[in-house]
Amino acid sequence: MENHLLEINGINVFYGDVQAVYDVSLHVDEGSIVALVGANGAGKTTLLKTISGITKASKGEIYFSGKPLAKLKPQQVVGTGISHVPEGRRLFSNLTVLENLKLGAYLPGARRIFSDSLERAYGLFPVLKKRGSQKAGSLSGGEQQMLAIARAMMSRPKILMLDEPSLGLSPILVRTMFELITTLNDQNITILLVEQNIHQALKIAHRAYVIKNGKIVLAGRGEELLSDPEVQKAYIGTRWSKQ
Ligand SMILES: Nc1ncnc2c1ncn2[C@@H]1O[C@H](COP(=O)(O)OP(=O)(O)OP(=O)(O)O)[C@@H](O)[C@H]1O
Ligand SMILES: [Mg+2]
Repeated sequence: MENHLLEINGINVFYGDVQAVYDVSLHVDEGSIVALVGANGAGKTTLLKTISGITKASKGEIYFSGKPLAKLKPQQVVGTGISHVPEGRRLFSNLTVLENLKLGAYLPGARRIFSDSLERAYGLFPVLKKRGSQKAGSLSGGEQQMLAIARAMMSRPKILMLDEPSLGLSPILVRTMFELITTLNDQNITILLVEQNIHQALKIAHRAYVIKNGKIVLAGRGEELLSDPEVQKAYIGTRWSKQ
């Protein structure tokens, strides 16, 4: 077996009677950045939620470090070394920055090394240290996204799954965000990145998958897909067209 840190084999996911994901297989190698790109409603968030154990696959398997995830509850999935920065950040806006970070380290193993993790988080995001006692809801959009990532890092994951981290950020902050993802990857964090900002995502990705209507329609090296005529045709500017 190759060093696939995460491996998904033929999963189907339904919401009630409606199928959102069709026979999806993908893998993420240890130490890599893998991008999952596609239009609105393609099934990107569903796939991340299924890996996290929030939604369940009706068919297929998901392995992390060679162990099956299917029967695990979301907090047990976190315990295996998978951390998920959800779409829309989902911070506790009435809690302070520090309290949000503490919640990211709620599992016993992570709690024991909390101060070390906090120091690392503040090293990566000095602005969060300054805002430690400020309510998360009072931060700027960019700062909130940084806090969401810092919170996810508090469980000391092997893999970080990011669901549209650049959404709603100014062009300068988008660039900062992609640089940050590369920095995290340089620090040995494997990344599964969901993005609609396809150009930037494919530029930093070692491997990428294009998902359309719940199916993987293309896979390859990031640069390869960037120059693929089908990919070029499917997006306008830096965002995807609806169909
Ligand atoms: N909780 C839910 N109940 C029913 N259907 C859902 C639910 N969540 C998502 N869906 C449907 O599943 C499909 C995939 O949605 P998903 O949120 O995974 O797409 P996405 O690729 O993340 O889109 P976006 O780029 O807009 O975030 C869509 O058709 C969506 O309407
Ligand atoms: Mg989504």
